Amino acid sequence: MLTYSLTLKIGVGQMPKQQSFGKNAQYSNDKNARQHMSIVKVHPEVKEVLSKFELPEEVGFGKVMAPIMIEADYADGKWGPIELKPYGPITLDPTAKVLHYAQEIFEGLKAYKTDGKGPFLFRPDENAKRFNSSAARMAMPDLPVESFVESCKVMTAYCSEFIPPNSGETLYIRPYMFATEESLGIKPSEKFKFLVIASPSGNYFASGSVTVGIERDAARATPGGMGAAKTGGNYAASLLSANQAIAKNCQQILWLDAVRHERIEEMSGMNFFAVIDGKLVTPALTETILAGITRKSIIEIAEAEGFQVEEKTMIIGDLIEDIKSGKCSEAFACGTAAIITPINALQESDDTQYKLQNPEGPVAAKLRKTLIDVQEGRKEGPNGWVVKINPPV
Ligand code: COI
Repeated sequence: MLTYSLTLKIGVGQMPKQQSFGKNAQYSNDKNARQHMSIVKVHPEVKEVLSKFELPEEVGFGKVMAPIMIEADYADGKWGPIELKPYGPITLDPTAKVLHYAQEIFEGLKAYKTDGKGPFLFRPDENAKRFNSSAARMAMPDLPVESFVESCKVMTAYCSEFIPPNSGETLYIRPYMFATEESLGIKPSEKFKFLVIASPSGNYFASGSVTVGIERDAARATPGGMGAAKTGGNYAASLLSANQAIAKNCQQILWLDAVRHERIEEMSGMNFFAVIDGKLVTPALTETILAGITRKSIIEIAEAEGFQVEEKTMIIGDLIEDIKSGKCSEAFACGTAAIITPINALQESDDTQYKLQNPEGPVAAKLRKTLIDVQEGRKEGPNGWVVKINPPV
Protein backbone atom coordinates (compact mmCIF):
# COMPACT_ATOMS: atom_id res chain seq x y z
CA MET A 1 0.00 0.00 0.00
CA LEU A 2 1.28 3.46 -0.84
CA THR A 3 1.30 6.04 1.90
CA TYR A 4 1.46 9.71 1.03
CA SER A 5 2.85 12.19 3.45
CA LEU A 6 2.32 15.91 3.63
CA THR A 7 5.25 18.28 3.74
CA LEU A 8 4.32 21.16 5.99
CA LYS A 9 6.32 24.37 5.72
CA ILE A 10 6.64 25.97 9.09
CA GLY A 11 7.25 29.64 9.62
CA VAL A 12 7.19 32.44 7.10
CA GLY A 13 9.73 34.67 5.42
CA GLN A 14 13.33 33.73 4.87
CA MET A 15 13.78 30.02 4.54
CA PRO A 16 17.24 28.58 4.42
CA LYS A 17 17.76 25.94 1.74
CA GLN A 18 16.37 22.57 2.78
CA GLN A 19 19.11 20.49 4.36
CA SER A 20 19.55 16.77 3.96
CA PHE A 21 18.77 15.45 7.39
CA GLY A 22 18.30 11.72 7.30
CA LYS A 23 17.72 9.24 10.08
CA ASN A 24 21.36 8.27 9.91
CA ALA A 25 22.76 11.77 10.37
CA GLN A 26 25.58 11.84 12.89
CA TYR A 27 25.18 14.14 15.84
CA SER A 28 28.04 15.65 17.72
CA ASN A 29 27.98 17.26 21.09
CA ASP A 30 29.47 20.68 20.37
CA LYS A 31 32.11 21.68 22.98
CA ASN A 32 29.97 24.46 24.40
CA ALA A 33 26.86 22.34 24.34
CA ARG A 34 28.71 19.64 26.29
CA GLN A 35 29.89 22.19 28.77
CA HIS A 36 26.58 23.94 29.41
CA MET A 37 23.75 22.29 27.55
CA SER A 38 24.44 18.63 27.27
CA ILE A 39 20.82 17.54 26.93
CA VAL A 40 20.67 19.05 23.42
CA LYS A 41 22.43 17.19 20.61
CA VAL A 42 23.90 19.46 17.95
CA HIS A 43 23.67 18.40 14.29
CA PRO A 44 26.95 18.79 12.40
CA GLU A 45 25.35 21.05 9.74
CA VAL A 46 24.33 23.67 12.29
CA LYS A 47 27.62 25.57 12.12
CA GLU A 48 27.51 25.74 8.35
CA VAL A 49 23.93 27.08 8.11
CA LEU A 50 24.71 29.64 10.81
CA SER A 51 27.83 30.83 8.99
CA LYS A 52 25.78 31.40 5.81
CA PHE A 53 22.98 33.34 7.53
CA GLU A 54 22.76 37.09 6.98
CA LEU A 55 20.52 39.27 9.10
CA PRO A 56 18.50 41.60 6.85
CA GLU A 57 18.48 45.30 7.83
CA GLU A 58 14.68 45.35 8.15
CA VAL A 59 13.44 42.37 10.15
CA GLY A 60 9.81 43.19 11.04
CA PHE A 61 8.14 40.84 13.52
CA GLY A 62 8.19 37.05 13.06
CA LYS A 63 9.09 37.27 9.38
CA VAL A 64 12.78 36.34 9.30
CA MET A 65 13.51 32.90 10.69
CA ALA A 66 16.79 31.82 12.28
CA PRO A 67 18.42 29.04 10.19
CA ILE A 68 18.28 26.50 13.03
CA MET A 69 15.59 24.85 15.15
CA ILE A 70 15.14 22.45 18.04
CA GLU A 71 13.20 19.23 17.55
CA ALA A 72 12.12 16.38 19.84
CA ASP A 73 9.50 13.66 19.40
CA TYR A 74 7.28 11.97 21.97
CA ALA A 75 6.17 8.36 21.48
CA ASP A 76 5.60 5.25 23.62
CA GLY A 77 5.07 7.43 26.69
CA LYS A 78 8.42 9.23 26.59
CA TRP A 79 10.37 12.05 24.98
CA GLY A 80 13.16 11.17 22.55
CA PRO A 81 16.40 13.15 22.19
CA ILE A 82 16.32 16.92 21.78
CA GLU A 83 18.19 17.94 18.64
CA LEU A 84 19.45 21.26 17.33
CA LYS A 85 19.33 21.07 13.53
CA PRO A 86 19.05 23.24 10.42
CA TYR A 87 15.68 25.01 10.04
CA GLY A 88 13.50 23.50 7.37
CA PRO A 89 10.19 21.90 6.42
CA ILE A 90 8.83 19.05 8.50
CA THR A 91 6.95 16.01 7.23
CA LEU A 92 3.55 15.13 8.67
CA ASP A 93 1.17 12.35 7.77
CA PRO A 94 -2.06 13.89 6.37
CA THR A 95 -3.97 12.27 9.25
CA ALA A 96 -1.76 13.85 11.94
CA LYS A 97 -4.22 14.76 14.66
CA VAL A 98 -3.10 18.37 14.93
CA LEU A 99 -4.38 19.00 11.39
CA HIS A 100 -7.88 17.79 12.26
CA TYR A 101 -8.43 18.35 15.98
CA ALA A 102 -6.01 21.21 16.73
CA GLN A 103 -4.20 19.51 19.59
CA GLU A 104 -1.44 22.12 19.82
CA ILE A 105 0.15 24.51 22.29
CA PHE A 106 2.81 27.21 22.04
CA GLU A 107 4.80 29.81 23.95
CA GLY A 108 6.53 33.07 23.07
CA LEU A 109 9.59 34.53 24.77
CA LYS A 110 12.42 36.81 23.80
CA ALA A 111 16.22 36.96 23.97
CA TYR A 112 17.69 40.45 24.43
CA LYS A 113 21.12 41.73 23.39
CA THR A 114 21.48 45.50 23.57
CA ASP A 115 24.37 47.89 24.40
CA GLY A 116 26.80 44.95 24.08
CA LYS A 117 25.08 43.20 27.03
CA GLY A 118 23.46 39.78 26.98
CA PRO A 119 22.07 37.74 25.48
CA PHE A 120 19.47 37.45 28.23
CA LEU A 121 16.29 35.43 28.51
CA PHE A 122 13.43 36.81 30.58
CA ARG A 123 11.75 34.38 33.01
CA PRO A 124 11.96 31.31 30.72
CA ASP A 125 10.97 29.05 33.62
CA GLU A 126 7.58 30.83 33.71
CA ASN A 127 7.04 30.01 30.04
CA ALA A 128 8.02 26.40 30.74
CA LYS A 129 5.47 26.13 33.56
CA ARG A 130 2.72 27.72 31.47
CA PHE A 131 3.59 25.37 28.59
CA ASN A 132 2.90 22.43 30.88
CA SER A 133 -0.34 23.86 32.21
CA SER A 134 -1.49 24.39 28.59
CA ALA A 135 -0.37 20.81 27.85
CA ALA A 136 -2.46 19.48 30.75
CA ARG A 137 -5.60 21.26 29.45
CA MET A 138 -5.02 19.94 25.93
CA ALA A 139 -4.39 16.31 27.01
CA MET A 140 -0.74 16.53 25.98
CA PRO A 141 2.34 15.24 27.83
CA ASP A 142 4.45 17.32 30.17
CA LEU A 143 7.80 18.47 28.85
CA PRO A 144 10.36 18.67 31.68
CA VAL A 145 10.95 22.34 32.60
CA GLU A 146 14.68 21.74 32.16
CA SER A 147 14.18 20.50 28.57
CA PHE A 148 12.09 23.55 27.68
CA VAL A 149 14.49 26.04 29.27
CA GLU A 150 17.63 24.37 27.89
CA SER A 151 16.12 24.34 24.41
CA CYS A 152 15.48 28.09 24.60
CA LYS A 153 18.99 28.65 25.98
CA VAL A 154 20.59 26.66 23.17
CA MET A 155 18.60 28.53 20.49
CA THR A 156 19.66 31.83 22.06
CA ALA A 157 23.29 30.79 22.38
CA TYR A 158 23.56 29.66 18.77
CA CYS A 159 21.58 32.65 17.42
CA SER A 160 23.48 35.15 19.57
CA GLU A 161 25.29 36.76 16.61
CA PHE A 162 22.07 37.81 14.93
CA ILE A 163 19.96 39.14 17.74
CA PRO A 164 19.25 42.65 16.45
CA PRO A 165 21.05 45.18 18.69
CA ASN A 166 18.63 48.12 19.05
CA SER A 167 16.54 48.56 22.18
CA GLY A 168 13.15 46.90 21.67
CA GLU A 169 14.56 44.49 19.09
CA THR A 170 15.02 40.85 20.10
CA LEU A 171 15.19 37.23 19.09
CA TYR A 172 11.56 36.13 19.40
CA ILE A 173 11.56 32.46 20.41
CA ARG A 174 8.58 30.25 19.64
CA PRO A 175 8.49 26.83 21.40
CA TYR A 176 5.50 24.67 20.39
CA MET A 177 4.14 21.16 20.58
CA PHE A 178 1.55 19.39 18.45
CA ALA A 179 -0.13 16.01 17.93
CA THR A 180 1.44 13.88 15.20
CA GLU A 181 -0.33 10.52 15.63
CA GLU A 182 -1.63 9.20 12.31
CA SER A 183 -5.33 8.52 12.87
CA LEU A 184 -8.68 10.24 12.43
CA GLY A 185 -10.20 8.91 15.66
CA ILE A 186 -11.18 11.69 18.03
CA LYS A 187 -9.04 10.81 20.98
CA PRO A 188 -5.86 12.29 22.41
CA SER A 189 -2.79 11.66 20.30
CA GLU A 190 -0.10 9.36 21.63
CA LYS A 191 2.61 10.98 19.52
CA PHE A 192 3.78 14.59 19.64
CA LYS A 193 6.47 16.83 18.22
CA PHE A 194 8.17 19.65 20.15
CA LEU A 195 9.86 22.37 18.09
CA VAL A 196 11.56 25.64 18.94
CA ILE A 197 12.05 28.16 16.15
CA ALA A 198 13.29 31.73 16.53
CA SER A 199 12.92 34.99 14.68
CA PRO A 200 15.16 38.06 14.91
CA SER A 201 12.41 40.67 15.34
CA GLY A 202 11.60 44.33 15.77
CA ASN A 203 8.48 45.90 17.28
CA TYR A 204 5.20 43.97 17.04
CA PHE A 205 3.18 47.11 16.31
CA ALA A 206 4.27 49.53 13.60
CA SER A 207 2.74 52.51 15.48
CA GLY A 208 3.36 53.66 19.06
CA SER A 209 -0.26 53.25 20.20
CA VAL A 210 -3.26 51.19 19.11
CA THR A 211 -7.01 51.66 18.61
CA VAL A 212 -8.92 48.74 20.10
CA GLY A 213 -12.31 47.49 18.87
CA ILE A 214 -14.74 46.29 21.55
CA GLU A 215 -16.07 42.86 20.49
CA ARG A 216 -19.72 42.90 21.63
CA ASP A 217 -20.91 39.71 19.86
CA ALA A 218 -18.35 36.98 19.27
CA ALA A 219 -16.53 35.27 22.16
CA ARG A 220 -12.92 34.12 22.40
CA ALA A 221 -13.35 31.66 25.28
CA THR A 222 -16.15 30.16 27.35
CA PRO A 223 -16.38 28.96 30.95
CA GLY A 224 -15.11 25.39 31.02
CA GLY A 225 -13.32 25.96 27.70
CA MET A 226 -9.62 26.39 26.98
CA GLY A 227 -9.21 30.18 27.22
CA ALA A 228 -6.48 29.94 29.86
CA ALA A 229 -4.36 27.63 27.66
CA LYS A 230 -1.96 29.00 25.07
CA THR A 231 -3.36 26.91 22.24
CA GLY A 232 -3.83 27.78 18.58
CA GLY A 233 -7.62 27.35 18.74
CA ASN A 234 -8.01 30.44 20.90
CA TYR A 235 -6.13 32.48 18.33
CA ALA A 236 -8.10 30.93 15.45
CA ALA A 237 -11.30 31.94 17.26
CA SER A 238 -10.12 35.55 17.24
CA LEU A 239 -9.32 35.88 13.53
CA LEU A 240 -12.78 36.70 12.11
CA SER A 241 -13.18 39.51 14.65
CA ALA A 242 -9.61 40.61 13.89
CA ASN A 243 -10.55 41.00 10.22
CA GLN A 244 -13.61 43.05 11.11
CA ALA A 245 -11.52 45.21 13.46
CA ILE A 246 -8.86 45.83 10.79
CA ALA A 247 -11.58 46.93 8.37
CA LYS A 248 -12.53 49.54 10.99
CA ASN A 249 -8.92 50.72 11.43
CA CYS A 250 -8.51 48.98 14.80
CA GLN A 251 -5.30 47.08 15.52
CA GLN A 252 -6.65 44.89 18.34
CA ILE A 253 -9.89 43.54 19.84
CA LEU A 254 -11.04 43.73 23.43
CA TRP A 255 -12.78 40.48 24.38
CA LEU A 256 -15.70 40.45 26.82
CA ASP A 257 -17.03 37.43 28.71
CA ALA A 258 -18.98 34.98 26.55
CA VAL A 259 -22.11 34.88 28.74
CA ARG A 260 -23.15 38.47 29.49
CA HIS A 261 -20.70 40.34 27.26
CA GLU A 262 -19.89 42.69 30.13
CA ARG A 263 -16.67 41.60 31.82
CA ILE A 264 -13.45 42.68 30.16
CA GLU A 265 -11.16 39.70 29.54
CA GLU A 266 -8.12 40.12 27.27
CA MET A 267 -7.02 41.06 23.78
CA SER A 268 -5.89 37.87 21.94
CA GLY A 269 -2.20 37.59 22.69
CA MET A 270 -2.17 40.52 25.08
CA ASN A 271 -3.56 41.41 28.49
CA PHE A 272 -5.39 44.65 29.31
CA PHE A 273 -4.57 47.35 31.88
CA ALA A 274 -6.20 50.73 32.61
CA VAL A 275 -5.14 53.60 34.88
CA ILE A 276 -8.22 54.63 36.86
CA ASP A 277 -7.99 57.35 39.52
CA GLY A 278 -4.21 56.91 39.34
CA LYS A 279 -4.52 53.21 40.19
CA LEU A 280 -3.37 50.45 37.83
CA VAL A 281 -6.34 48.13 37.19
CA THR A 282 -6.41 44.83 35.27
CA PRO A 283 -9.01 42.05 34.95
CA ALA A 284 -8.55 39.39 37.64
CA LEU A 285 -7.48 36.09 36.07
CA THR A 286 -10.25 33.60 35.29
CA GLU A 287 -10.41 30.37 33.30
CA THR A 288 -11.13 32.45 30.18
CA ILE A 289 -8.00 34.64 30.36
CA LEU A 290 -4.43 33.67 29.51
CA ALA A 291 -2.16 34.40 32.49
CA GLY A 292 0.39 36.67 30.85
CA ILE A 293 3.98 36.59 32.13
CA THR A 294 4.36 40.23 31.10
CA ARG A 295 1.12 40.99 32.97
CA LYS A 296 2.47 39.31 36.11
CA SER A 297 5.83 41.11 35.78
CA ILE A 298 4.16 44.51 35.31
CA ILE A 299 2.14 44.03 38.48
CA GLU A 300 5.35 43.38 40.45
CA ILE A 301 7.23 46.26 38.83
CA ALA A 302 4.33 48.70 39.32
CA GLU A 303 4.00 47.79 43.00
CA ALA A 304 7.76 48.19 43.47
CA GLU A 305 7.51 51.63 41.83
CA GLY A 306 4.77 52.69 44.27
CA PHE A 307 1.69 52.29 42.08
CA GLN A 308 -1.41 50.79 43.63
CA VAL A 309 -2.48 47.76 41.57
CA GLU A 310 -5.91 46.19 41.58
CA GLU A 311 -6.83 42.87 39.91
CA LYS A 312 -10.61 42.85 39.73
CA THR A 313 -13.70 42.27 37.60
CA MET A 314 -13.79 45.12 35.09
CA ILE A 315 -17.13 45.94 33.46
CA ILE A 316 -16.98 47.49 29.99
CA GLY A 317 -19.82 49.98 30.68
CA ASP A 318 -18.03 51.28 33.80
CA LEU A 319 -14.75 51.61 31.95
CA ILE A 320 -16.40 53.64 29.18
CA GLU A 321 -17.96 55.98 31.78
CA ASP A 322 -14.55 56.34 33.44
CA ILE A 323 -12.92 57.17 30.10
CA LYS A 324 -15.64 59.77 29.35
CA SER A 325 -15.31 61.39 32.79
CA GLY A 326 -11.50 61.35 32.68
CA LYS A 327 -11.23 59.03 35.74
CA CYS A 328 -9.56 56.55 33.39
CA SER A 329 -6.58 58.48 32.06
CA GLU A 330 -4.87 55.76 30.06
CA ALA A 331 -5.03 52.12 29.05
CA PHE A 332 -2.51 49.73 27.55
CA ALA A 333 -1.99 46.26 26.08
CA CYS A 334 0.82 44.07 27.37
CA GLY A 335 2.43 40.82 26.30
CA THR A 336 5.75 39.34 25.26
CA ALA A 337 5.34 40.59 21.69
CA ALA A 338 3.49 43.83 22.51
CA ILE A 339 5.67 44.63 25.58
CA ILE A 340 3.55 47.58 26.79
CA THR A 341 1.63 49.35 24.03
CA PRO A 342 -0.60 52.34 24.88
CA ILE A 343 -4.22 52.34 23.72
CA ASN A 344 -5.37 55.64 22.16
CA ALA A 345 -9.10 54.80 21.97
CA LEU A 346 -11.68 52.06 22.38
CA GLN A 347 -14.09 51.77 19.46
CA GLU A 348 -17.57 50.29 18.92
CA SER A 349 -18.57 48.52 15.69
CA ASP A 350 -20.60 51.64 14.71
CA ASP A 351 -17.31 53.62 14.88
CA THR A 352 -18.16 55.45 18.16
CA GLN A 353 -14.83 56.11 19.83
CA TYR A 354 -13.93 56.61 23.49
CA LYS A 355 -10.64 58.45 23.38
CA LEU A 356 -8.16 58.07 26.21
CA GLN A 357 -7.09 61.31 27.91
CA ASN A 358 -3.39 60.44 27.63
CA PRO A 359 -2.95 58.48 24.42
CA GLU A 360 0.82 58.58 24.85
CA GLY A 361 0.38 56.92 28.27
CA PRO A 362 2.85 58.33 30.84
CA VAL A 363 2.25 55.46 33.27
CA ALA A 364 2.59 52.93 30.46
CA ALA A 365 5.78 54.69 29.33
CA LYS A 366 7.29 54.57 32.83
CA LEU A 367 6.49 50.88 33.35
CA ARG A 368 7.65 50.02 29.83
CA LYS A 369 10.98 51.72 30.46
CA THR A 370 11.56 49.78 33.68
CA LEU A 371 10.50 46.49 32.11
CA ILE A 372 12.77 46.94 29.08
CA ASP A 373 15.64 48.17 31.25
CA VAL A 374 15.39 44.94 33.26
CA GLN A 375 14.99 42.71 30.19
CA GLU A 376 17.94 44.34 28.40
CA GLY A 377 20.17 44.19 31.48
CA ARG A 378 20.44 47.92 32.32
CA LYS A 379 18.56 47.55 35.58
CA GLU A 380 18.58 44.73 38.10
CA GLY A 381 15.27 42.89 38.32
CA PRO A 382 14.04 40.47 40.96
CA ASN A 383 16.15 37.37 41.49
CA GLY A 384 15.90 34.84 38.65
CA TRP A 385 14.04 37.05 36.16
CA VAL A 386 16.97 37.62 33.83
CA VAL A 387 19.04 34.65 32.68
CA LYS A 388 22.41 35.33 31.03
CA ILE A 389 23.23 33.02 28.13
CA ASN A 390 26.80 32.14 27.17
CA PRO A 391 27.29 32.09 23.40
CA PRO A 392 28.99 29.01 21.90
CA VAL A 393 32.78 29.28 21.72
C1 COI B 1 3.34 36.64 22.53
O1 COI B 1 3.34 37.78 22.97
O2 COI B 1 4.32 35.87 22.63
C2 COI B 1 2.16 36.12 21.87
O3 COI B 1 1.87 34.98 21.95
C3 COI B 1 1.39 37.05 21.07
C4 COI B 1 1.43 36.83 19.62
C5 COI B 1 0.48 37.85 19.10
C6 COI B 1 2.74 37.00 18.96
